[in-house]
Amino acid sequence: MSGPSLRKTDAHSSIHEASLNEALELRDIFRKCLEDGETDKALQVLEVTIEHWETRTLKHAEEEEEGLYKDIINEHPDLLHTVIQLTRDHDLMRRIVDNIKDRLQTQEPNMEIVTLLDSLVIIDLIHNEDEMNKLLANGK
Ligand SMILES: [Fe+2]
Ligand SMILES: [Fe+2]
Repeated sequence: MSGPSLRKTDAHSSIHEASLNEALELRDIFRKCLEDGETDKALQVLEVTIEHWETRTLKHAEEEEEGLYKDIINEHPDLLHTVIQLTRDHDLMRRIVDNIKDRLQTQEPNMEIVTLLDSLVIIDLIHNEDEMNKLLANGK
């Protein structure tokens, strides 16, 4: 979903919620595989988890930066600072996803990756809250 529909707080916020719920489920399954010593399965789940972050949250972020954020700055230049902060959140999430992918080149899946997945969730939660309250509040 892109364009004007991202301006509707209800529709936009349900995109956030759906992605985050799936991310939480995948993180839980990944952690359970590690706890049960199922390394091969953990790796498969992690690959799905990375794909989830890339195709859902990071794709959504890209669409916002190319559309919604630019439109809002044009109409409300006073929101530039907020848009810069929100874009930084996107960058942090991209960096963490890349970090997980880099680790997989040399390491087996481990609990440190659960910590990174938790960080993604925390940043995303705060980010979504700010997007709703600071960017889209008051019908902007
Ligand atoms: Fe965003
Ligand atoms: Fe968003």
